[in-house]
Parts: sequence; C-alpha cells; structure tokens
Amino acid sequence: MAIRKIRVIGDECLTKVCRPVTEVTDRTKMLIEDMLDTMYDAGGVGLAAPQVGILKRIVVIDVSPEGDSPIVLINPEIISTSGKQTGEEGCLSVPDKSGIVTRPKKVKVKAFDIDMNEFTLEGEDLLARAFCHEIDHLDGHLYVEKIEE
Ligand code: NI
Repeated sequence: MAIRKIRVIGDECLTKVCRPVTEVTDRTKMLIEDMLDTMYDAGGVGLAAPQVGILKRIVVIDVSPEGDSPIVLINPEIISTSGKQTGEEGCLSVPDKSGIVTRPKKVKVKAFDIDMNEFTLEGEDLLARAFCHEIDHLDGHLYVEKIEE
C-alpha cells in the first residue's frame, strides 16, 4: 500500500490531456492500487491518474457508503447520458472547496478493466457525477470551470 501525493490546482499535470493505456503492466497495476489507497486515505469518491502526476487515462471511483466497492476504469469514454442533476461537487485537487455543478442524471460509460476487457457501466446520481468529473480530469479539466454562480 502506498499513498501518493495528490497534485493540487495550479499543477500543470491537471491541465494535460492524458494518454490512453495500451497495456496493463505490473507498474500499471501498482499505480491503480496506489490510486485506490490514495483515494480512500483522502476520503474521496474518485481519483484520476493525473491527480497523482501520471498522465494516463485511468480512473478509480468508489461511491459506496462503506467504501468497499471500487470501480476501476481504464480508457473510459462516456457513451450516453440522460437527464440533469444540479448539486455540490468537490475535488481532492481543489482542497476545502466545493461548488454547484450541473451534470447528467444518468451516464453510461465504456471502459477497459484491469485485464483489458471492455465493459460498459451505467451510473446514476453520484456515480454519474463521478464518471463525468473523473473523465474530465483525463482531458485536463477541473469542475471549477463548470461552477454555476
Ligand atoms: Ni477531481
């Protein structure tokens, strides 16, 4: 288990478009384990690789109250969305702040798992929000760009 340092707003890693993963190596698996450890340690519900300084398209999410249902998304893409939700959002890279952001109510993503098998997953409410927020990180975007006054 290793906790990695979370980059905060102002760090250029958070503004970059990340590269797709072509192969899951032992190093990739270690990165994913560390991302989960780092997310749980920080009390977050999601973390994207650029937040720990790695410019690869990898996201981890866990929106369960118990923190025992990790989701790992490699090269995730949003394939459909529906509805709208407006609510509070925060980010481990923007410490001690939150803002109101509108996101789709339901989001379906396509991604690869740790064995590079493709799968799709549908999320609602907080999970839908997490999909959008984390995938935005992979394209160098932070939720603060989307805050409504
Ligand atoms: Ni974030």
